[in-house]
Amino acid sequence: MEPKRIPKRIVVGVAGGIAAYKAATVVRQLTEAGHSVRVIPTESALRFVGAATFEALSGNPVHTDVWTDVHEVPHVRLGQQADLVVVAPATADVLARAATGRADDLLTATLLTARCPVMFVPAMHTEMWLHPATVDNVATLRRRGAVVLEPASGRLTGADTGPGRMPEPEEIATLAQLLLDRPDALPHDLAGVKAVVTAGGTREPIDPVRFIGNRSSGKQGYAVARVMAQRGAEVTLIAGNTVGLDDPAGVHVVRIGSAAQLKDAVSKHAPEAHVLVMAAAVADFRPAQVHTSKIKKSADPDVAPPPIELTRTDDVLAGAVRARADGQLPNMRAIVGFAAETGDANGDVLTYARAKLRRKGCDLLVVNAVGEKRAFEVDTNDGWLLAADGAETALEHGSKTLMASRIVDAIVALLQNHGG
Ligand code: CTP
Repeated sequence: MEPKRIPKRIVVGVAGGIAAYKAATVVRQLTEAGHSVRVIPTESALRFVGAATFEALSGNPVHTDVWTDVHEVPHVRLGQQADLVVVAPATADVLARAATGRADDLLTATLLTARCPVMFVPAMHTEMWLHPATVDNVATLRRRGAVVLEPASGRLTGADTGPGRMPEPEEIATLAQLLLDRPDALPHDLAGVKAVVTAGGTREPIDPVRFIGNRSSGKQGYAVARVMAQRGAEVTLIAGNTVGLDDPAGVHVVRIGSAAQLKDAVSKHAPEAHVLVMAAAVADFRPAQVHTSKIKKSADPDVAPPPIELTRTDDVLAGAVRARADGQLPNMRAIVGFAAETGDANGDVLTYARAKLRRKGCDLLVVNAVGEKRAFEVDTNDGWLLAADGAETALEHGSKTLMASRIVDAIVALLQNHGG
C-alpha cells in the first residue's frame, strides 16, 4: 500500500462470503497505515472468520447487532463518525440490503447513517454478479454516490472462473486511501469508454540471457489503468517489466518484453480504443543485432569486450498520433504521453516538457520531475499536466493513485470536449 497520511476513522464492513478471510488483511493494511479501524461483520461473516481475529487486528471490539452497548448508540455513532466505510467482501445479499435501505443489522444501520464516502467491494459467483437484480442494485448504489468497485476476474471458489473475485487486499487498501485523500476520486464516469494503457519498462535483448532495461516500476501506469477501470472504462493494460505488480481488478493485461512487442500490442488494440495512455518507459535504442547464443567473454582479460551497436526503436506515441491524423484510429479521442525530465543548464523541466508535447503531438503530456529518489521506484509522484491547447496544471504531490485520478479527470475532460 502507498505511504501513510493523516490517520482517519474507517469502518470495515464484512459480509458473509468466502473472501471474508481477505478482509483480515485489509484491516491489517489499514491499521498499519495508521488509521483507526472498526470492523462490523454480518452474522454470516462470522461463520467464515471469528470476531477474535477482527478484534485483534483492529484493536477494537466487534459486534454484529444493534443490541450491544446500546447506551453508546453504535448503529448511529459509528456511521456518523466514520471518514470512510469499506464493505469487503460485499455479497449480493449485502448489496441488495444496502440498495433497499434495510437496517436489519449493525452494518446496514451504519450504512444508513454514514455521510462519508462508502466503498463496496463485491465478491460473489459470476452468475450472482451478472444477475439483473444485482446489476440493478449496483446501479442504484452508484447513482446514490456510493463507489462499487469492479470485481476482478479469475478463479472463484470451486472450479468456476469469471468476474466476481474480490480484488486483492493491497488494491482495496490503495483505493480506500485514494477516497480518504480525495472523496470524489472514483465517479463511474467512463462507462462505454475503451482505453489502452501501457506501463513498465521494455527490455531489449542482447542475447538469450541479457537485455538493456530501465528503472521504470510500472506503478504510475498501473495506477492509471486501475483508476480508469474503477471509473467504468474497459481497459487493456500493455505491461512491460514491472516491480512484480498484481494485475489491477477488472483490467485485461497483455504482457510484452521489447519495444517492438509493445508497438505490436498497441497497434493491435489501439484501433478499438477511445483513449491511449503511454505511461511505459519504452527504450529509445535497442541492440542492432540480437545474438542467438550467449556472448562469451574471452579467457584473456586483455581482450576488449565486444561492442554493442545500438539502433533506434520506433516512437510508439508519435506513431499513434500520426495514425490518428491519417484516419487509422477513428475512435481515438485522447492520446496521453508521459515525460520524465530532469532539466539541465540549457532549460528547466517545463521548458523541455513543452517542447516534447509539441514534438510528440499528443493531447496531454504528464510531466514528472525525476532525479534521485523522485518518481522511479517510489510510491509518490508530482509534476504537471500539459495540454495541447496550452493549459498547464500542477499536480499536487501525493500517491501515484491520487495522481492517476487527476490524470483521468483530464482525460474525461478531453472526452467531453470531443463530444463523448
Ligand atoms: N515513447 C514511445 N516510444 C518510444 C519512446 C518513448 O511511445 N520509442 C513514449 C513514452 O511512452 C512516453 C513518451 O514517449 O509517453 C516520452 O518518452 P521519452 O523517452 O521521455 O521521450 P523522447 O522523445 O525519447 O525524449 P528524450 O530525448 O527526453 O528521451
